[in-house]
Amino acid sequence: MKSKINSLAEYFKEYEKSINDPEKFWEGIANEFIWRKKWDKVLEYEFNTPKISWFKNSKLNITENIFERQLDNISNKTAIIWEPNNPEEDVIKISYKELYKKTCQFSNAMESNGVKKGDRVVIYMPMVPEAAIAMLSCARIGAIHSIVFAGFSSNALADRINDCNAKMVLTSDGNFRGTKNIPVKSVVDDALDNCKSVSKVIVLKRTGEKINMINGRDLWWHEVIENQSSEHEAASLDSEDMLFILYTSGSTGKPKGVVHTNAGYMVYTYYSFLNVFQYNKEDIYWCTADIGWITGHSYIVYGPLLAGATTLMFEGVPTFPDAGRFWEIVDKHKVNQFYTAPTAIRALQAYGLEYVKPYSLDSLSVIGSVGEPINEEAWHWYHDNIGKGKCPLVDTWWQTETGGIMISPLAGITPNKPAHASLPLPGIQPVLVDSEGKELEGNNVEGNLCIKFPWPSILRTTYGDHKRCKETYFSTYSNMYFTGDGAKRDHDGYIRILGRVDDVINVSGHRMGTAEVENAINENSKVIESAVVGFPHEIKGQGIYAFAICQKNDNDTVKTLEEEIKLTVRSIIGPIATPETVQIVSGLPKTRSGKIMRRILRKVASKDVSDLGDISTLLNPKVVEDIIKGAGL
Ligand code: WT7
Repeated sequence: MKSKINSLAEYFKEYEKSINDPEKFWEGIANEFIWRKKWDKVLEYEFNTPKISWFKNSKLNITENIFERQLDNISNKTAIIWEPNNPEEDVIKISYKELYKKTCQFSNAMESNGVKKGDRVVIYMPMVPEAAIAMLSCARIGAIHSIVFAGFSSNALADRINDCNAKMVLTSDGNFRGTKNIPVKSVVDDALDNCKSVSKVIVLKRTGEKINMINGRDLWWHEVIENQSSEHEAASLDSEDMLFILYTSGSTGKPKGVVHTNAGYMVYTYYSFLNVFQYNKEDIYWCTADIGWITGHSYIVYGPLLAGATTLMFEGVPTFPDAGRFWEIVDKHKVNQFYTAPTAIRALQAYGLEYVKPYSLDSLSVIGSVGEPINEEAWHWYHDNIGKGKCPLVDTWWQTETGGIMISPLAGITPNKPAHASLPLPGIQPVLVDSEGKELEGNNVEGNLCIKFPWPSILRTTYGDHKRCKETYFSTYSNMYFTGDGAKRDHDGYIRILGRVDDVINVSGHRMGTAEVENAINENSKVIESAVVGFPHEIKGQGIYAFAICQKNDNDTVKTLEEEIKLTVRSIIGPIATPETVQIVSGLPKTRSGKIMRRILRKVASKDVSDLGDISTLLNPKVVEDIIKGAGL
């Protein structure tokens, strides 16, 4: 663990080195890994295209760096602790050696079923060790995984499968989540009615559900691995070959496939994991995210395993069998680092301290937060009651596109400040800019957050549409990566993230595009037009508020229409996108050029219409009054 920073002075020193000579800095870290062939050049980049290469022309395999590089030292160490949804069921512990064998075995099984380097494999699975094995096996072969969160609908799944032209889908018969048993295989079946590219589906038996297996297409996981060797020679991959695609929402159109590549992602997830969480050799680390999100990719699987950590995977939900489940698991497995989302903290806070009190939480040394700004109240509750006032709280700001944590305290090394992501990691050069793109220097300034220099795990493209990548991230400001977030640098120089400045809503740490939800609503044939905005929500951070103009049938009531629209969204995107409120309106406030004035709708949604600003220039000022009345304000 050579690259671990041990003091504040060392942080400043490393930070300075990383800025003065980034190539030398990252080369030093990359040298901790094994390479089939080393790079010709550490970094080559041009932001405006964008074209970014890290460790150019090197050859490697990320799983060789997890396994072959480390097995001599940690072969019997537990790699994954799996905690099942139902606490009565047995825990599974998988050592590095066993994980290696299972990965090799499944790599062989996928290859036997036609998967080759460069093929796309969609993973739609519960939180079970096989999901991690599936990812690692893709990486071992050089196939590109694209995980779709298993809560997305068949329609959303089909869109993603088609966008990347996946050859194979990996799934399970069903998923256990709390008291629910979700029939995921039938979701896959529905999706595949509209996907021509998929020739094989491998199904893990998890719930024992009776499912429909299609002859020639569907195969059981336990059958495909039978008789497969547990050795497999890792493919030698180019540093810039794709490792995975992960779909995420933006302010316009359909979700886009963020692309991460092998070498840079490996170096950065390892380095950031080690330093932010200050992982020690014997520690048990637990991140509660789902592997369907970037947090699960970088900080359940790749980062921890590259650092030889023991990573805990939890199948269930925080409130089953009761709201003390997280804390029960912490005590049961003596978890040292615990990483979760503000929405979970706020939800558990609402259940009350009686669910925390039965547990000692003594093992914890670091607690973390990710996904959205953590409000001060939740920060203190978490810090005082879970961290017992003694654990550093790392508020980690980053994005699907950044691949790894960008701005965050390093636990116990750099200072904690409630609700502040605080300081950038070495190698990260954040800047705040005004609307013209002028850099705002000094402290006590607020602006749009950009990053002015590449880091190894920056996205390389959006799959199949490089122009979109350029337009979304590299065109707003010249020569910078634009994050879509607003931020403030306070009087001490610490960064506080203020939230999205684009049309993206962050619901429970999950990103939803307003346009995406509107498109789903508009699929309902009774809807003429809709507009979606976010509003502050006590538990979820933000909730979705939808306004819709509808054509009513005789037997529709406002209530049935509202419910119907919610159902439409659930079935087109998935439950996480369901609007909290649907308001049927007679019209939407528009400018003379026909643009919806979301500013006004946001005010209505957040129940604060005291200052609507000038609405006289609207095409239809009267409609505002009706909307306010309709909202009961
Ligand atoms: C957006 C990225 C990073 C993995 C989970 C979400 C918001 C994320 C923080 C934080 C304030 C945060 C930002 C960002 N966000 N972490 N610590 N403080 N805001 O990944 O779906 O790609 O969303 O989440 O708005 O842009 P994502």
